[in-house]
Amino acid sequence: MPLQIISYNAMYHDLVYEICLKTGNAGAGAEHLHNDPMVLGHVYAGPYINLEPESAFLLEDEMGVCGYIIGALDTLSFFNKVKSDWLPELQKQYSDPTESSKPWNKDEKCIHLLFHPEIPQDFPEYPSHLHIDLLPRAQGKGLGKKMMDYFMNDLKLRGSKGLHLGLGIKNQRAFHFYKKYGMKELKRDRNSIIMGISFE
Ligand SMILES: CC(C)(COP(=O)(O)OP(=O)(O)OC[C@H]1O[C@@H](n2cnc3c(N)ncnc32)[C@H](O)[C@@H]1OP(=O)(O)O)[C@@H](O)C(=O)NCCC(=O)NCCS
Repeated sequence: MPLQIISYNAMYHDLVYEICLKTGNAGAGAEHLHNDPMVLGHVYAGPYINLEPESAFLLEDEMGVCGYIIGALDTLSFFNKVKSDWLPELQKQYSDPTESSKPWNKDEKCIHLLFHPEIPQDFPEYPSHLHIDLLPRAQGKGLGKKMMDYFMNDLKLRGSKGLHLGLGIKNQRAFHFYKKYGMKELKRDRNSIIMGISFE
């Protein structure tokens, strides 16, 4: 089967979570960092595939799904949906670690975000946002660029004028990739960088 980009379908739910975990440590595997294999996905993948599946696309090769690009057309309204339709159910399943002593492990850091989600910054020129993660076998072959082209074209057709994304400061590879793609740095702090690209 040739490589193809397909629309997300609920039968791939667990695979998306798996790819999220396998790429969740600044682009490398995060399996060894989590006792709970789901919690990273609950923060960074689940909201997208469940609340905005029309903005989720998968990369498929002869071995199966090997990557995804997921996001939101309008970041601020998506965040409101996350608060009302995604987090309440999960908050019933987990306990808020806020009162427990630090340092928190990686699971606790993710669980904290389920109770205290980061409020997205408003970038009026870049209202959409995305996350892209490819398994190692799909990396370095120009497929990330293809996925970005596909996703941005779709957002553009649906009326977006630009997008931003956040990345961990340690993920140098992704930083170079986005820069090469034409994204510009919008903001940076000790832990993360926000980049944006306009469609106009
Ligand atoms: C980051 C990622 C999406 C990039 O996709 P990719 O398919 O590996 O990258 P591509 O092969 O499409 O690279 C596109 C261009 O960026 C360049 N590029 C990629 N990595 C680079 C690096 N480390 N330094 C400089 N340029 C780089 C490539 O050379 C290529 O340029 P070219 O077209 O002139 O050859 C992918 O590697 C990935 O999913 N990594 C793991 C998860 C991750 O880190 N996700 C991002 C989280 S913010």
